[in-house]
Amino acid sequence: MTDLAASLIPDFDLTTRNTLALEARSRFGLLLDHPDQLPDLFSYATDSDLPVRILGGGSNVVLAPEFHGITALLTLRGRAVIGETADHVLIEASAGENWHDLVQWTVNRGLGGLENLALIPGTVGAAPVQNIGAYGAELSEFLHTLRAFDRSSGTTLTFSRDECGFAYRDSVFKQHPDRFVVLSVQLALRKNWTANLAFAGLSELAQAADLTPRMVMDQVIALRTSKLPDWTVTPNAGSFFQNPIVPETQAASILAEFPAAPCYPQPDGRMKLSAGWLIERSGLKGYRLGPAGISERHALVLVNHGGARQADISALADHVKATVLARFGIALHEEPIFL
Ligand code: EPU
Repeated sequence: MTDLAASLIPDFDLTTRNTLALEARSRFGLLLDHPDQLPDLFSYATDSDLPVRILGGGSNVVLAPEFHGITALLTLRGRAVIGETADHVLIEASAGENWHDLVQWTVNRGLGGLENLALIPGTVGAAPVQNIGAYGAELSEFLHTLRAFDRSSGTTLTFSRDECGFAYRDSVFKQHPDRFVVLSVQLALRKNWTANLAFAGLSELAQAADLTPRMVMDQVIALRTSKLPDWTVTPNAGSFFQNPIVPETQAASILAEFPAAPCYPQPDGRMKLSAGWLIERSGLKGYRLGPAGISERHALVLVNHGGARQADISALADHVKATVLARFGIALHEEPIFL
């Protein structure tokens, strides 16, 4: 426990550790590179009456300017092919690995599956928390098992895919942020790879001869680069709102006014609408409120034009929600986590 106290970094600056580049500090920081440190961390925090929060790549968070506790950055590393079944190759990766590096690492080994999820910012440990998804794929399709530290029992648990409670941008880990710390994932990648080209910008690849995971990955990278602002240039947290899933009747009234509105039927009969489209049609693309703004490239992305703090992003998000509600009668919900 004394070791842990010695590892704490006082007045830890997090401004460069969140992709929105919000000005943020924590009373203490901790670089956590071994899972054995977790029990010590939580018992020290309890004894010292300090709250703890865990941060990965900081790509899906809206940080408060001051946190009067310990912010632990998970830096656990390691990735390996660990085995195979008749149909799948199993890989394991630790929470602190960079997600996109892992995608490239699998594709470099000729393993397909993750290529549609290329270039998503953040860490492997954060990926299952919000069940990252893009271009017709979601992490949950590939997750075999997951190991997480359970703060309530002080033990490490193994979760099957079903036990993770995955849904669109959701999981048990997102529902219980103060309870679980994701330590590693095992992913099952099909040996008999078939490309997932259902998404509009990928479908032309279906004509390509000798299609490989790398060709799909390169196309996904080109699509993302052309559509989404680069957080290293214009700080942002990706999609700021979830795409709303509404009753069929509500979608029908929007389609009656805008027949070309993007609209995706769900298995339960409801319709998923595009939040970016709703925000753009509400006249907010490129809108600015103080140092916060809506990207001119993609209306679903809130950006920091310089010096923004959590309150600036919150004020803009509230304005977007109120405007879309007034125009379309639809309530949007934030995707990033406010910490
Ligand atoms: N659209 C507009 N105006 C805009 C932006 C988009 O009208 O400013 C329209 C597009 O024309 C398109 C539709 O909205 O018809 C959907 O846009 P897009 O293909 O860019 O996808 P999205 O629904 O906005 C989702 C994910 C992204 C993921 C893309 C690609 C959510 C909340 N977002 O965005 O994920 O990359 O699909 O599959 O589900 C993220 O979560 O951070 C993220 C970037």
